Amino acid sequence: MSGLPRSFRHIQMLAKQQSHTLTLGQLMRSTRSDSNSLIRQGQWLRNQLPIRFARRLDEFLQLPYLVVHNQNIKQVFDIYVDTFETVSDFPNIITDRDEAAFADLIRQQLEKHQQVARLIAEGYREVRHMYPHLRLDSFLDRLFIARISARILMENYIRMRTPAEGFIGVVQKELSPLQVFQELSNEITRLTEAIYGVAPDIEFRGNLTCTLDYIPRHVQFMGQELLKNAVRATTERHKPRDGPGIGFASRSERIPKVAVEVQKGDVHVIIKISDQGGGMPKRIQEEAWQYGWTTADHEEEDDPYSGGTWRKELAGYGFGLPLTRLHAQYFGGDVFMQALPGHGTDMYLLLNHLKEGSPSTEEDDPSTALTETENRSVNAP
Ligand SMILES: Nc1ncnc2c1ncn2[C@@H]1O[C@H](COP(=O)(O)OP(=O)(O)O)[C@@H](O)[C@H]1O
Ligand SMILES: [Mg+2]
Repeated sequence: MSGLPRSFRHIQMLAKQQSHTLTLGQLMRSTRSDSNSLIRQGQWLRNQLPIRFARRLDEFLQLPYLVVHNQNIKQVFDIYVDTFETVSDFPNIITDRDEAAFADLIRQQLEKHQQVARLIAEGYREVRHMYPHLRLDSFLDRLFIARISARILMENYIRMRTPAEGFIGVVQKELSPLQVFQELSNEITRLTEAIYGVAPDIEFRGNLTCTLDYIPRHVQFMGQELLKNAVRATTERHKPRDGPGIGFASRSERIPKVAVEVQKGDVHVIIKISDQGGGMPKRIQEEAWQYGWTTADHEEEDDPYSGGTWRKELAGYGFGLPLTRLHAQYFGGDVFMQALPGHGTDMYLLLNHLKEGSPSTEEDDPSTALTETENRSVNAP
């Protein structure tokens, strides 16, 4: 890195401070669009976000030189410094006008942070290409947990300014998992056909009318990663060997379906994604949860005609499974895999209802747990 940020001392100081925790239930209850609530929430974020970003920066500064020197990871570091500095430089929020200006700033920062996951994945891949034994799993876990939490706080604040029917801030009430998965299926099928010339059909079963209160972006993210994996494994295993295009006419006969089954349990909504993509050997079943572990190759990447970038949309960074697990566990859910080597894989995604007053929004609170882990991690040996 070319020198420390100008705010280095300030970062170090704030990184040692205790941040306030907030349960999702508390956040939902404070989600109101009157001017006082907005000013209060704006002021709270203005004080709290710098502490959270200072912690991340403090950890970045402790990474090996070769990691932060990577241009993609450096870019993420710069985004975090920028957020830290612009938010902590923002004056006190007193009037509606101050608050509106602060909301603009948060909106811009959210926009900048959108590319963070891709930049980290790309950077980590490059670094590990040179140093295959380097592993940053716990750093990445903490980075992404903090990212999930900061984005919820920031997005909820932006959304509470313009309340939408059926939403409490970022949480959508009675979201239909079926609808989310159907939309994802269309997109992934199109992408897969563009890459391979064929794609399996995706079939829906179970309790198709079931709904749940959840953050739609999270359901979309997890669903997308699991579906992409199932579709890719199935297509790789069953695609016609004699070149693309030929399978089009009879794709459903040649390629086994991917099944998505939705069920409503007492505590969870359970989404099971089954494929006949060959599964994975036992050893790999555990490794697949590590950041950067992938069987997608990048060999033809430099060939502009190979569709390397198209392929990367489908797989390639090895971040899908670990990030899906992080998102599911964030609200007390989970994801597990039952892979039958030589046949196929069942993935189970368990999601808690995010109802105000339920354990997933009050007791098993992620941001409490998060702050505890964060407090432990600061300058930990
Ligand atoms: N449904 C599945 N069937 C077979 N292999 C899978 C399945 N899901 C994941 N995998 C294996 O786990 C690896 C890691 O998956 P993931 O974390 O999503 O990263 P990526 O898809 O970028 O490779 C994949 O490359 C693949 O080898
Ligand atoms: Mg994947």
